[in-house]
Amino acid sequence: MRITITEIKEMKRRKEKIPMLTAYDYVTAKIVDEAGVPLILVGDSLGMVMLGYESTIPVTMEEMIHHIKAVVRGAKKALIIGDMPFMSYHISVSDALHNAARFIQEAGAQAVKLEGGEVVAEKVRRLVDCGIPVMGHIGLTPQSIHQLGGFRVQGKVMEEAKKLLNDARALEEAGAFAIVLECTPAPLSKLIAQTLAIPTIGIGAGPDCDGQVQVISDLLGLYTEFVPKHAKKYASLAGEIKTAVSSYIAEVKSRSFPTAEQSYTMDENLIKQLKAES
Ligand code: KIV
Repeated sequence: MRITITEIKEMKRRKEKIPMLTAYDYVTAKIVDEAGVPLILVGDSLGMVMLGYESTIPVTMEEMIHHIKAVVRGAKKALIIGDMPFMSYHISVSDALHNAARFIQEAGAQAVKLEGGEVVAEKVRRLVDCGIPVMGHIGLTPQSIHQLGGFRVQGKVMEEAKKLLNDARALEEAGAFAIVLECTPAPLSKLIAQTLAIPTIGIGAGPDCDGQVQVISDLLGLYTEFVPKHAKKYASLAGEIKTAVSSYIAEVKSRSFPTAEQSYTMDENLIKQLKAES
């Protein structure tokens, strides 16, 4: 049985911290799921860390659906959240509903995430009313990077801090089951976590959020082009992969790969006969 949003909300009530990770493909999702992560986000960060775009803005619905399907096949227990890409929920409530429904019905996700606070509350309410669980996302919202003027911490000044608190309340009132806080000062994140009954999941938001989320490629040391301050590297897989590939290249060139161990045999008489006939 998959984890449900009720169990996630219950974790906050029990004061149990909630780990969440991104995953974008079958193999990684399977490993992350077997390790016991209860929430997997198929983030639009895939645009940068999987597809090589400069930001998350070019990511399309079709790309997201392709990756969500793979993650759903790989992870059997975790609750899978599909991240709605830029302009898939901005134009109208009906657009937001249509695209969120594709994530649930066509791709097999159990919930969707969208960026924004009060401004998206009406859409969140409509999705929730139609039975689609929604995770909010406020603070540094990468889809608004041009409007925000770059990747910078949000909520350091009074006006921004008040707005974030209001946005968090608006999302909770609209029915969101949890909210991502990205790059918000730790004391503000703590206040938001204490104010809301639903879980806050932080990334660069300090230790007092109810849960934490990391981008899997940062955690594994796979994406080395840009590593944010809030990312912690638990492995250095880019280096390990390069070492493995260099060894392979050297062995192919020196003829030490493959050996008999990686080769298949056949009846020697057959090959003799074949040679005689040819
Ligand atoms: O796209 C993503 O990976 C995200 C997380 C950073 C929360 O939105």
